[in-house]
Amino acid sequence: MSLRSDAWYSGDDRNAYMHRAWMRRGVPGSAFEGRPQIAIANTASDLTPCNSHLTEVAASVRNGIYEAGGIPLELPVVSLGETQVRPTAMLWRNMAAMSTEEMLRANPIDGVVLLGGCDKTIPSLLMAAASVDLPAVVVPGGPMLTGTFRGTPLGCGTDVWRLSEEVRAGTLSQEDFLRSESATIRSKGHCNTMGTASTMGLLAEALGTVLPGTAGTPAPDSRLLEAAHDTGRLAVEMVAAGRRPSDVLTRASFHNAIVALAAIGGSTNAVVHLLAIAGRLGIDLTLDDVDRIGSRVPLLVDLLPAGRFLMDDLHRAGGLLAVLREVRDLLDPTAITVTGKPLVEYLDSAQIWDPEVIRTREAPLLPEGGIAVLRGNLAPRGAVIKPAAASPHLLRHRGRAVVFDSIEDFHARVDDPGLDVDANSVMVLRGCGPKGYPGMPEVSNMPLPKKLLEAGVRDVVRVCDGRMSGTAYGTVVLHVAPEAAAGGPLALVRDGDWIELDVPGRRLSIDIPDDELAAREPSAVAAASYAAPSRGWEKLYVDHVLQADTGADLDFLVGSSGDQVSRESH
Ligand code: FES
Ligand code: MG
Repeated sequence: MSLRSDAWYSGDDRNAYMHRAWMRRGVPGSAFEGRPQIAIANTASDLTPCNSHLTEVAASVRNGIYEAGGIPLELPVVSLGETQVRPTAMLWRNMAAMSTEEMLRANPIDGVVLLGGCDKTIPSLLMAAASVDLPAVVVPGGPMLTGTFRGTPLGCGTDVWRLSEEVRAGTLSQEDFLRSESATIRSKGHCNTMGTASTMGLLAEALGTVLPGTAGTPAPDSRLLEAAHDTGRLAVEMVAAGRRPSDVLTRASFHNAIVALAAIGGSTNAVVHLLAIAGRLGIDLTLDDVDRIGSRVPLLVDLLPAGRFLMDDLHRAGGLLAVLREVRDLLDPTAITVTGKPLVEYLDSAQIWDPEVIRTREAPLLPEGGIAVLRGNLAPRGAVIKPAAASPHLLRHRGRAVVFDSIEDFHARVDDPGLDVDANSVMVLRGCGPKGYPGMPEVSNMPLPKKLLEAGVRDVVRVCDGRMSGTAYGTVVLHVAPEAAAGGPLALVRDGDWIELDVPGRRLSIDIPDDELAAREPSAVAAASYAAPSRGWEKLYVDHVLQADTGADLDFLVGSSGDQVSRESH
């Protein structure tokens, strides 16, 4: 078998000597004689606490690679801690993807095991792997165990939003709120709700890029290390078989991921990530595909924020394969996995062990679990909403706009007793798209005005060009495209305009005649808050980022460059 890494290591010339000599340092001489070089792209970092255990996972991957005859090579890559970095981890998803892609291509490796967990890490790793197209397999780092506070389970994110609203509503004391802080994160692992990290770990499996049956294994569970070991072995086999991301990530596998996204009630952020990954492969996946494929799929998983349970419960109840077995007829049977076998082949032995957590097809949580894509004169290129996390009575709604020109404007005025807002209002926040903020932060689920909370209101329609955390809930219209800062009509909305939301009809519009809307000037106040960086990554990002409806990748990163390197280094 000839290997990509032979181009570095084989032969007797000076360059091969140098490539080998510097790598020796105790590795066996046989390392350079036809053994697959497998990188372990590791997003472990103390500043990405959800991923800090991945170095332990990497040790198991390493053992598996050695056992199968490969050479493991740990490659630390850019990592993003969702809760820590400002203004938003999304600002660097594409940077993480770009830097990982470049390092995979530049180095003498034949295949890669991708270790991710926290929200942006698996998307960036998959984007990188898709663009370099070397044999690649993901080990999702897994969710944390369920924390409890005063006997009640706490869901990461979701319960922080809920408890902080209770404090604002005056039904929970500040002291009790702070007491819950040390209970919310019980163990290593990523958020245990069906947020973005859980969603992307499961979707990586639905896409075929994970050893089937292993996504969603809790981070402290010893079965995760077993899966990591087996994945190390698998990576060596994948190199021998020449099985690349372009073989696994096909239109059929994105179809299956969209079915899975609906059935698990996954994060809206997954839409942006799936579109971006597909863009790296030249697959023409659109927002409309997300709606068309996902909207008929029943919601089967009863997890926060749409339901009651947490990721540990999903794993105990049978995991993703048990969910997918219920919707087998909706899956594309042609999609293969990293093992070379079709995903659907793994469903035969899957079983639901707790029908409260994973519902059967006959008794779904909701008949339709998909993410809805809205269009209209307020979102000409689309917007999304997760009906499962919204209030049913607001899914068809007409209300007057209360407009905020920036997140700072929102914070300054939201609790003003004089704010002209009521339960029927539609809160509009602009300037939060990829270019405007920059990075499209998770601010769209604006906290409700105090006076509404005190009056017992727990949800109003909100519309924004940003994202919301996958752990959040509410009737929130997100990812409005084009964003205000890219000339979208969101910049034209004024206080008091009538906004119409019709989720069953897939419409989001502003009730103003077209000519009147066209004659309006975009808000200068909003424009003053848009990002205008003069250097560095932010400059590159703002100049080149695409809108949410195509995945918010950088324009020059869409597509693939493959694994070829044409020039020598010495
Ligand atoms: Fe890392 Fe939620 S903050 S997964
Ligand atoms: Mg998030």
